[in-house]
Amino acid sequence: MNLYINCCVREESRTDRLAHAVINKIGGDFHVLDLYSENIKPLDNERLSHRMELCANNDFSDTIFDLAKQFASAETIVIAAPYWDSSFPSMLKIYLENIYVIGIVTDYDDKGMPKGLCSAKKLYYVTTAGGVYDSIYSYGYIENLAKNYFGIKQTELVKAEMLDIVGFDAEDILQREIQKWQ
Ligand SMILES: Cc1cc2nc3c(=O)[nH]c(=O)nc-3n(C[C@H](O)[C@H](O)[C@H](O)COP(=O)(O)O)c2cc1C
Repeated sequence: MNLYINCCVREESRTDRLAHAVINKIGGDFHVLDLYSENIKPLDNERLSHRMELCANNDFSDTIFDLAKQFASAETIVIAAPYWDSSFPSMLKIYLENIYVIGIVTDYDDKGMPKGLCSAKKLYYVTTAGGVYDSIYSYGYIENLAKNYFGIKQTELVKAEMLDIVGFDAEDILQREIQKWQ
């Protein structure tokens, strides 16, 4: 199963359009996980205590672990998120804190070093930016998690930038990026 993690907010999202070009190129079946339709909740005190108790007992049968298991078993992962406030929408962070479960997506080896447990060979991070895109707090962060903690060895950034700057033709810029995948 391939997994499309859609964190795009707007109906006319350009990030989602670019992500679909990537998905079509990759091919195969994709499970679409629309983060804004999933009712994914932050780890508040109640949810965190519950999760910690289950993890302490090595019991991963609760539905609270479903998203983590889905992420860990995906073959290829595409994340789409617009560039917001030099990063990405908070919903993606909420998703990450829900799936980041030691014992499902990552673990520690005998020396205390992180050992990834995810099956995916590759993760694509798709984004679009109104101005100049700086990857440090979005793709850079996801790349670090994927490679150093989740065991996903390959990551790729797919982006279109300068889409909201007067004098730049947003549709033309986007189409050029989309065409690279056709
Ligand atoms: C809440 C919000 C925050 C944004 N922050 C940035 C930013 O920090 N830098 C930037 O270049 N563009 C920023 N933008 C512009 C978006 O990155 C740009 O419009 C992007 O293409 C939106 O993607 P979408 O069409 O998929 O919604 C922001 C837009 C919104 C709505």
